[in-house]
Amino acid sequence: MKAVLSYSGGLDTTVCIPLLRERYGYDEVITVTVDIGQPESDIRQAEERGTKYADRHYTVDAKSDFVNELFRLIKANGEYEGYVLGTALARPLIAGKVVEIARKENADAIAHGCTGKGNDQLRFENVFRQYGFKVVAPVRDLNLTREWEIEYAREHGIDVPATKEKPYSIDENLWSRSIEGGKLEDPSFIPPEEIYEWTVSPEKAPEKAEIIKIDFEEGIPVALNDVKMNGFELIKKLNEIGGKHGVGRTDMIEDRVLGLKARENYEHPAATILITAHRDLEKLVLSRKELKFKKLVEEEWAELVYHGLTNDPLYDALNAFIDTTQKRVTGWVKIRLYKGYAFPVARYSNFALYSEELVSFDTEAIDQKLAEGFAAFHGLQGRMFKRLFQ
Ligand code: ARG
Repeated sequence: MKAVLSYSGGLDTTVCIPLLRERYGYDEVITVTVDIGQPESDIRQAEERGTKYADRHYTVDAKSDFVNELFRLIKANGEYEGYVLGTALARPLIAGKVVEIARKENADAIAHGCTGKGNDQLRFENVFRQYGFKVVAPVRDLNLTREWEIEYAREHGIDVPATKEKPYSIDENLWSRSIEGGKLEDPSFIPPEEIYEWTVSPEKAPEKAEIIKIDFEEGIPVALNDVKMNGFELIKKLNEIGGKHGVGRTDMIEDRVLGLKARENYEHPAATILITAHRDLEKLVLSRKELKFKKLVEEEWAELVYHGLTNDPLYDALNAFIDTTQKRVTGWVKIRLYKGYAFPVARYSNFALYSEELVSFDTEAIDQKLAEGFAAFHGLQGRMFKRLFQ
């Protein structure tokens, strides 16, 4: 019996290896780590541990697939309750790559290390089940706690990736870094600086603001400060620049799919900058009606992604609408980065539904007197109502 394990190299998934053998009777355990832009050292560590503790290990490079998903997210201004959806968007992609290996290996089951409290179990399994695989979830199934896992790992000669003093659960990819667990679980506890790795504290950010320019083509970022870049490089670079200015920290209460409220901490400088810039450009080129309706679409889009339901046909339909609107989202935005903030300060597009000539205080392009008739009717019903009760 053969099991393929979706493997991060962290504590949860590492204890799954001996558990799959001892408790579930799989005699072959194969680990798969999918590279979606997490630190090189994490990939190497997963490779080392996978090779050491499992029967075979695969690393799958999905960086460019992930960037394509992120482009979709940028077009949708993807955000769930203020969370930039990094983990959520990555899960179905990771699951799809794990399925490919499971098929190639002719595996009997796919295993994951998610708990029964979070969203990731739902996002993963939706895909595994779509391809007809049996799912094994030892951490959930055996009701494991991190304490128990640390002990079990020690007993099995596994070098323990988490300590009891720094018991954070980190999930990191190109788009965001999530920090959960330990003392952070008390929402009234202020997070210590030690949880952050991508961003400096705004107080420590430079006194001098920095203005950057981002070019978009059809809703997709293509250049930074007039230098063309592929999506991966551009996002990486923006994470560095934004992080230096303390941009992109989120401390929030989030409604998980199961209904549990969770205290979440995130870092995501590039996401903050790109969504801020993209929204700003949309305001210049999309009509009032488009903007209003797109907000509703974005809300639905984000919820599908958060719930891991991107195989629902609604997802394709929403993306079709979004893509139609994005044909004109071409131009540039300048963003000022300063002490934790990212503000748009200038924007330009050939498709702007904007006329300086018409709106200016200084021209006579519009005969202002024409608005008199409009004003006479505007608010008519409200005036009638107020008069009734005056
Ligand atoms: N709360 C976020 C989500 O549901 C991030 C979860 C991070 N996962 C983790 N295993 N640390 O997408």
